Amino acid sequence: MKKLLALVCAIAVPLAPSFAADADGRMLVEMPLEARAEMRAEMLDFQTALHSIITALVERNYTDAADIAEKQMGVSAMGRHRNAPPNARPGMFMPNDMHAIARGMHVSATDFARAARATPKAGNPTKALAALQAVTGACVACHRSYRTQ
Ligand code: HEC
Repeated sequence: MKKLLALVCAIAVPLAPSFAADADGRMLVEMPLEARAEMRAEMLDFQTALHSIITALVERNYTDAADIAEKQMGVSAMGRHRNAPPNARPGMFMPNDMHAIARGMHVSATDFARAARATPKAGNPTKALAALQAVTGACVACHRSYRTQ
């Protein structure tokens, strides 16, 4: 019985409690709950915008794709939390490298908007798609590098 218990412990203890934490190499960024709530709301808007952009591309509506990207994700969409109280401004809690990825995402969305507008003249959407890939690349880069919980 003692042997069995020892065996169970030997197998179960290392496997059970902290597997997820150990396997997660992302940097933990601590933010007040208010900042995290703001961030989640903004993220959901980005996700919806991305979906709308892809929908517009499928319809070959490059002007709509450009407008959505610029207004909702581009440089024009920066500073959304400017007037919020400090504890609700995610940017104030981001390490520099994380902040750089965030700014890069906005700039990439503006680059995409420009490429999307130029698509009818260019004759094909290759450049616009490459620019959009830089946008999704920023989502992935940040999510793969940082966590807030
Ligand atoms: C600079 C870093 C950064 C970038 C860039 C970024 N995210 Fe996030 N995202 C986060 C963090 C941090 C959270 C977790 C927020 C929390 O719950 O504390 C998050 C959460 C989310 C969520 C979950 C929201 C929820 O309701 O829990 C979605 C969806 C999301 N991001 C989509 C995107 C998309 C799409 C992009 C690119 C267009 C993107 N994110 C770019 C950092 C980023």
